[in-house]
Amino acid sequence: MRAIRHDDARLVWDETSAIPGPGAHEVRLKVAWAGINRADLMQRAGHYPPPPGASPVLGLEVSGTITELGDDVRGLSVGQPVCALLAGGGYAEEVVVDAHQVLPLPEGFTLREAAALPEVFATAWLNLFMEGALGAGDRVLLHAGASGVGTAAIQLCRAFGYPCFVTVGSDAKLAACRELGADAGWNRHEGSFVDAVQRWGGADMILDPVGASYLADNQRVLNEDGRLVVIGMMGGRQAELDMGRMLMKRQRLIGSTLRARPPEAKGRILAALAEHVWPRLVSGELRPLIDRTWPIEDAETAHDHVRADANTGKVLLEVSGA
Ligand SMILES: NC(=O)c1ccc[n+]([C@@H]2O[C@H](COP(=O)([O-])OP(=O)(O)OC[C@H]3O[C@@H](n4cnc5c(N)ncnc54)[C@H](OP(=O)(O)O)[C@@H]3O)[C@@H](O)[C@H]2O)c1
Repeated sequence: MRAIRHDDARLVWDETSAIPGPGAHEVRLKVAWAGINRADLMQRAGHYPPPPGASPVLGLEVSGTITELGDDVRGLSVGQPVCALLAGGGYAEEVVVDAHQVLPLPEGFTLREAAALPEVFATAWLNLFMEGALGAGDRVLLHAGASGVGTAAIQLCRAFGYPCFVTVGSDAKLAACRELGADAGWNRHEGSFVDAVQRWGGADMILDPVGASYLADNQRVLNEDGRLVVIGMMGGRQAELDMGRMLMKRQRLIGSTLRARPPEAKGRILAALAEHVWPRLVSGELRPLIDRTWPIEDAETAHDHVRADANTGKVLLEVSGA
């Protein structure tokens, strides 16, 4: 089979050895489309190694068709089109994945659209509702609002009735986020977001992929009993925490990663998506926002596009199409 190799600072689509399995709880998929995530860029740069046991090949999500089932897998069938959340290995013709990490396509969805769903909707759902514990009346601050994760999170906030404020890197991205349902926003290249968020009413929950460079300002705008959920470190990993503000405002700081969670935990998140998100995708209330696609052979160009912060929503790689 072929897969992307990234061992010499280039992404090369090349022959590699076949993947063993599937084990009793796993399925084998013929990959149609693979989603690109910011984490893939960090992994190839050596800053985000795959968890123990995961494939060293890039790729955290795919859509495709089931070609083989493990003996103990129930509820899925050979030939079924599905999408899957992976710990690695998606930039390839085939993946073998635990059945907990697989979901049928929302009715009426193409494989192309479905590849844009698993990682960003799972991340947004997990961190808004499970870690961030959104409750009645909460106001949400979403950093990197135009990212893949951001565009899913905006739509979930709108669909479930939580006003949200986004920070983004351009006025065009801000307009796109407003169209998706963001109530207000700020272009991060015009200075700190603090005044704008405070005028808006502050935030009860912050979904933050930026980390160190935003910590002080996040604490300034986080309301009493607010939750700051840190999911990334695009702005660095070391920063000073104001414990006085944390104590007096009863702020909670929560770190969260999806990738290293065991299959059963990922399965619980996907089950929540199937119940609460899939019907809204079918009805058209929620949608995957696909920025651009490239053939898998052009993965390097696609990575350049993401590295330049040029995307609004998801960038996908076509492996076998349809
Ligand atoms: N913990 C988890 O489980 C988990 C899971 C998935 C994703 N994530 C994290 O969530 C983030 C979004 O992922 P994605 O794949 O959706 O990203 P993406 O589509 O590649 O978008 C990332 C965007 O972040 C903004 N950005 C880049 N550097 C920044 C900086 N230094 N400060 C502020 N904003 C910056 C840029 O948008 P603007 O130019 O518009 O600002 C960029 O386009 C990443 O940090 C990723 O690692 C975490």
